[in-house]
Amino acid sequence: MSRNGKLALVTGASGGLGLELAKLLAAGGYDLVLVARSEEKLRDAARDLASAHGVDAKPVVADLATSDAAGTLFAQVPRCDVLVNNAGFATNDRFERIGESRITEEIVLDVLTLTRLTRKYLPGMIERRDGKILNIASTAGFLPGPFMAVYYACKAYVISFSQAIAEELRGSGVRVSCFAPGSIHTGFAQRANSGSTPLWILPASNATTMAKSAYRGLMRGTVLNVPWPPSNWLVDLSARLTPRAILRFVSRKANERRER
Ligand SMILES: NC(=O)c1ccc[n+]([C@@H]2O[C@H](COP(=O)([O-])OP(=O)(O)OC[C@H]3O[C@@H](n4cnc5c(N)ncnc54)[C@H](OP(=O)(O)O)[C@@H]3O)[C@@H](O)[C@H]2O)c1
Repeated sequence: MSRNGKLALVTGASGGLGLELAKLLAAGGYDLVLVARSEEKLRDAARDLASAHGVDAKPVVADLATSDAAGTLFAQVPRCDVLVNNAGFATNDRFERIGESRITEEIVLDVLTLTRLTRKYLPGMIERRDGKILNIASTAGFLPGPFMAVYYACKAYVISFSQAIAEELRGSGVRVSCFAPGSIHTGFAQRANSGSTPLWILPASNATTMAKSAYRGLMRGTVLNVPWPPSNWLVDLSARLTPRAILRFVSRKANERRER
């Protein structure tokens, strides 16, 4: 049983940033629903977090890159007090070389499921005048991203969508926080096949530190939370001040694999 009487649902909680966020939520006294595809990792995480923090933690195995995933999940878990839309992936390649099914899965996971889960859990939160939503974006969302065109566009959606509903919900008791970090050491780069790009020559942050920053922003209700290091703030600022042709070129150089 939770120590604060509240439940947090975390997507992509089998590893990386999502697992670190789940640890912080458990330490904060939240019961947990941990969602991802890797059953064993989820079960291990749920068991460890429950015993370490005295909360309930339930693993839910689901592929959230399918169009009806949000409905199925909501039917299983009809209420949550904190929704963490964290699951996401990217693909590094020329757009025309990426299979249509992979593109669809990327958009469904990074955009559609995030939107539909928000739509499903929000009315309950508004009714209770209490709720928190954390949407994980990226500094990628501030730029166009040659060779990761779909991912950058998805994250731009997450930033825009989150800010808009945060404003709609002002005074409702429900807070929306959007977290936009730069590179983090997780399984992300390998899944995206982007590990050999110049972007990853720069130092990346660690997932524990980034989760702490995202958690702080969530609790404070920071609408757009761009964390340390300052290079992330520079991306945000320069995206607003630099001519678009220069932005496209620099972003291309960051994402271009050597063998291409
Ligand atoms: N790492 C970075 O450099 C970076 C930078 C900025 C933003 N982000 C964002 O941070 C978030 C977390 O990424 P991460 O860095 O922690 O990456 P990660 O280590 O690859 O973790 C991704 C998580 O999402 C889950 N996931 C992937 N596909 C899924 C699907 N179809 N259905 C359900 N769950 C799925 C994975 O679990 P299963 O494989 O078990 O399903 C895993 O738990 C993402 O939204 C990402 O875009 C990452």
